Amino acid sequence: MHFQLSEEHLAVQEAARDFAQKQLKPGVIERDSKMEFPTDQVRQMGELGFLGMMVDPQYGGGGMDTLSYVLAMEEISKIDNSSSVIMSVNNSLVCWGIETYGTEAQKAKYLPKLATGEHIGSFCLSEPEAGSDATSQRTTAVDMGDYYLINGTKNWITNGGSSKIHLVVAQTNPELGHKGINVFIVETDWAGVEIGAKEDKLGIRSSDTHTIMYTDVKVPKENRIGNDGFGFTFAMKTLAGGRIGIASQALGIAGGAYELALAYAQERKAFGKEIGKHQAIAFKLADMATEIEAAKMMVYRAAWLKDQNMDYNSASAMAKLYASEVAMKHTVEAVQIHGGYGFVKEYHVERLMRDAKITQIYEGTSEIQKIVISRNVLKGKHYIPTAKQVYLENA
Ligand code: CAA
Repeated sequence: MHFQLSEEHLAVQEAARDFAQKQLKPGVIERDSKMEFPTDQVRQMGELGFLGMMVDPQYGGGGMDTLSYVLAMEEISKIDNSSSVIMSVNNSLVCWGIETYGTEAQKAKYLPKLATGEHIGSFCLSEPEAGSDATSQRTTAVDMGDYYLINGTKNWITNGGSSKIHLVVAQTNPELGHKGINVFIVETDWAGVEIGAKEDKLGIRSSDTHTIMYTDVKVPKENRIGNDGFGFTFAMKTLAGGRIGIASQALGIAGGAYELALAYAQERKAFGKEIGKHQAIAFKLADMATEIEAAKMMVYRAAWLKDQNMDYNSASAMAKLYASEVAMKHTVEAVQIHGGYGFVKEYHVERLMRDAKITQIYEGTSEIQKIVISRNVLKGKHYIPTAKQVYLENA
């Protein structure tokens, strides 16, 4: 076991940090206030390869591993979480889902534009009455012979106002329950796709979150992903990887707040010395540093397991659960360390605190992560690979 990042990983980390500082930080407060979508920044992310990092180069992607993606997400999330959620959904839900389970024709048609940011994608699972309870899909996809007819409403759709490609989860055979669910690639300029109002949110305010209505949308048969009835498994497997992306976002939020709090504590003086030299603040910094390191180990290990093609279902849920709790707790502490300055927008920590909250909610709430983890634990599934398992995987 070694903990040294490779030269390639360090280069990705550096490139993402540089991009975040130079291109995302200017204007981030204003975009957040005005709920302004980061159009130019998303275009730049596409040009720099941040929107299709793990996609095979034959489809226009970067061909990188999950750890590279996590490192980039972490750096970008220290600065701008509206941009990092756009990046996360596009990379780990939309591109990964199509590349892993799509047909050759689906990959060739959709991935090159998604991987380069010419198009961005949305993952359309949640509904007004099916959030955590994802098997209760009300959206229907009726088999009409050579096409499906989709009707229904999806809620909380990230990138909803700007995406060109939707992965829509819908019920085809209600009598089969979750085994009757399918997932379809839907192009947003097809007749019957209507984009609803943009949500006015607590955090990640410049990402665009919308309700989407589908009315008699004709979807060609060849746009169904996988065999008939594969949709729920698709959603679960895709979300297991997506949760590594959100965990790395949470890690970045916590790390960004920590960096700001540390700098402030070394600069601001009270009672004759820097506030970081008062034990009340020093111990807060110690707790932050320790828990962020612990979260980092969990997030990087989940990425490593995925890269080894080993079971990462529990590991990704644990990483998201823990990293998001750390992000929430320590962004609150970062505001506290800043005192009154922490409460105003100029100092960035209040935005990170608002952004942290969603990491405990989307791609499965903290409570859903505990369901996933506990079910795996009760099945006796080990989430720490033994030497034998590693050996067999590598054999
Ligand atoms: N891989 C493969 N199969 C899986 C699986 C996985 N990771 N997880 C579950 N399944 C299978 C189960 O084995 C089961 O199959 P069988 O019946 O054949 O055994 C089937 O799926 C149903 O599973 P459960 O019985 O466990 O279903 P459940 O109703 O109890 O719910 C749940 C399971 C884990 C709670 C699931 O509903 C869930 O993950 N809910 C949260 C949904 C979520 O994360 N939504 C986020 C929205 S997307 C988003 O936020 C994106 C964005 O824009 C940022």
